[in-house]
Amino acid sequence: MSLSNKKILLGIGGGIAAYKSADLVRRLKERGAEVRVVMSQGAKEFITPLTLQALSGHPVASDLLDPAAEAAMGHIELARWADLMIIAPATANLIARFNAGMADELITTCVLATSAPIALCPAMNQQMYINAATQANLSNLRQRGIHLWGPASGSQACGEIGPGRMLEPLEIAKQAEAFFAPQLLAGQKIMITAGPTREAIDPVRYISNHSSGKMGYALAQAAQAMGADVTLVSGPTQLATPSGVTRINVESADDMLSAVMADIAKQTIFIGCAAVADYRVADIATQKVKKSSSTMTLALVRNPDILASVAALDNKPFCVGFAAETQDVEHYAKGKLTAKRLDMIAANDVSVAGLGFNADSNALQVIWPTGQQALPATDKLTLAQQLLTLIATHKHA
Ligand code: C5P
Repeated sequence: MSLSNKKILLGIGGGIAAYKSADLVRRLKERGAEVRVVMSQGAKEFITPLTLQALSGHPVASDLLDPAAEAAMGHIELARWADLMIIAPATANLIARFNAGMADELITTCVLATSAPIALCPAMNQQMYINAATQANLSNLRQRGIHLWGPASGSQACGEIGPGRMLEPLEIAKQAEAFFAPQLLAGQKIMITAGPTREAIDPVRYISNHSSGKMGYALAQAAQAMGADVTLVSGPTQLATPSGVTRINVESADDMLSAVMADIAKQTIFIGCAAVADYRVADIATQKVKKSSSTMTLALVRNPDILASVAALDNKPFCVGFAAETQDVEHYAKGKLTAKRLDMIAANDVSVAGLGFNADSNALQVIWPTGQQALPATDKLTLAQQLLTLIATHKHA
């Protein structure tokens, strides 16, 4: 089991998403983890300690000054016991207190007292999440090495729609699995391109595509968890940079090529996951184009192929491409593998609804010069781990 022998301290904050934390305990335990629970005072208003005690199989701690709890396992011992501390839900208030380094109740004290890695799963109203104070707190915490898992976007208990939903328990358990992944990529330097590119028409307009960047970001997160030193060269996306990953922001295909080439000599693996625009505008207008006639024609020129340029280098890294196709997937992917001189290509059928482009799940047919393997539909983080495991195996083959 993927979390066997892992000791996870789950801190539950006082938010409506706390009811999902009960399920999270089960998801972690069914993967082999030993789970102990600490609840904030607020959390006990949403879910009872008895529920968490029954599910975790251990008494739940919530009081800093509880002699009975301290006699069983003191708060410092609890903080020391953990291999990983997960805070789910991490409310805006808790996040502010963690950032301030407060030790005003057991949950904040454990965060301060543990030397284990900490992951926060934010959960709050979308306006509270985008508030500058919360964003500054999260950014500080991230700089201190605290991992942020989520939040997701969508409908909220308060009736609003936006970012701030806690990740689902299964997704959090998968993040924990990725976190403890075997270090198959230790010592590797991986560069990953992700997201769309934007090709300017004039100072206010551009041509782009619907790529969300999710697959590339999942690869970056999983590669980092597997021990690699990761550089993510990213077109414009709405996604947070995975902890420990160096991100270089670019806009156009030309920018992306320059950013890649500036650092490629150091890389041992290159994964082209970006949806690079095939064409750019031949002459970008320096002033905003006026709508003076009823039709308009844009002259386009081919963009450089970033992946093929990397694969053509004398000292090329192990090169992996993606091929999004709507028909004859294997045939076209094999053609690209040869034409671009790649070591591996991950092909997906983007005509299947809900998979691949701009979706949370994907399925891949991974092809290399001497073989292939199907990776069935699953979430992008799990798929990223599976693809990286294949890369690690074939790079050394
Ligand atoms: O667009 P195409 O199907 O040829 O893309 C296949 C692979 O090549 C993808 O991995 C993509 O990231 C990469 N690519 C690139 N630069 C381009 C076009 C595609 O790196 N201009």
